[in-house]
Amino acid sequence: MKVLVTGSSGLIGSEAVLHFDRAGHRVFGLDNNMRREFFGPAGDTRWNQERLVGACEHFTHVELDIRDRPRLLELFQQERFDLVIHCAAQPSHDKAKEIPFVDFDVNAVGTLNLLESCRLASPEAVFIFMSTNKVYGDAPNEVPLQELPTRWDYARPEDHQGIREDCRIDRTMHSLFGASKTAADVVAQEYGRYFGMNVGVFRGGCLTGEHHSGVQLHGFLSYLVKVARSNETYSIFGYKGKQVRDQIHSHDVISAFAAFASAPRPGEVYNLGGGRANSASVLECIDQIERLLGRKMQHTYVEQARKGDHICYISDLTKFRAHFPKWSLEWSLDRILETMVAGR
Ligand SMILES: NC(=O)c1ccc[n+]([C@@H]2O[C@H](COP(=O)([O-])OP(=O)(O)OC[C@H]3O[C@@H](n4cnc5c(N)ncnc54)[C@H](O)[C@@H]3O)[C@@H](O)[C@H]2O)c1
Repeated sequence: MKVLVTGSSGLIGSEAVLHFDRAGHRVFGLDNNMRREFFGPAGDTRWNQERLVGACEHFTHVELDIRDRPRLLELFQQERFDLVIHCAAQPSHDKAKEIPFVDFDVNAVGTLNLLESCRLASPEAVFIFMSTNKVYGDAPNEVPLQELPTRWDYARPEDHQGIREDCRIDRTMHSLFGASKTAADVVAQEYGRYFGMNVGVFRGGCLTGEHHSGVQLHGFLSYLVKVARSNETYSIFGYKGKQVRDQIHSHDVISAFAAFASAPRPGEVYNLGGGRANSASVLECIDQIERLLGRKMQHTYVEQARKGDHICYISDLTKFRAHFPKWSLEWSLDRILETMVAGR
């Protein structure tokens, strides 16, 4: 196969490049290091691009901006991809308010540019779009919660598995990031439903791994471990630090993409996170990191929660597991944290 990965120097993109390169496919990775523009030097992803060039056998880096419509179409017409994995994005909930035009141009219009280029040049291709749980805005906060000693959790047994794909996506507060990703998510579904293309939409929980260029504004676990290792002070924003996220390692994200690519369902939407087994609150993550480091980590508490932040978000994986029963999570939260704390 010929595979195009956008955002190939980022966390998820780089894992996709390695996976499909190792499987013997020809892989093109498109990235313009825009993460550095968003987040400064700590967000620079060139190191990861260089790592891929060194580690891969069939990889070509393409320095291109997904906003560049004519050059994108040229690339698609020239290469006729069989599989497109779209991970390039302005990924931060909080950053978007400072750069609303750039955020929308990259996340919404950039996704449309890719979908339309794909439709014109290779309509049979499988197209995977990395969406986000922020498409639900803060609607998940309406699920009744109970406060436990170290975390918030769902109060009703029927919510135990987490948030399903039928959670509503409008009439909630998204942040501008959530809104631009929702636009992209709905447009991507349309290329599956209206045009019948093999499009899959994956709404990520907390995606993580040791190859994230974590910064305060994006990459929660990577940033938390970075701060702990360098003995700096981590700021917890609101909800008593008991807010819950479900962590999925980039490896398990890509194995889900590979499963979908081998049996695509046009226009389908899936929640994809670590699920209940890999869920933890900020306080629980800190506790585990302190145990692994063998010392306390410094943190401060800011009363004001981030606007539109989820209090307890766990991805219900039932639908994906039903459609792809052979897929399973290989990375537990313990394994993820051990690897990250060890700096591997
Ligand atoms: N990391 C998470 O917790 C998380 C959660 C839910 C959804 N997602 C989504 O998953 C996808 C991948 O996330 P990630 O954590 O790997 O992000 P990342 O920032 O690590 O990687 C994205 C890459 O895209 C590149 N990029 C940005 N704008 C570009 C442009 N205009 N043209 C070309 N390249 C561009 C960046 O330079 C970066 O290398 C994103 O769509 C993100 O919204 C991430």
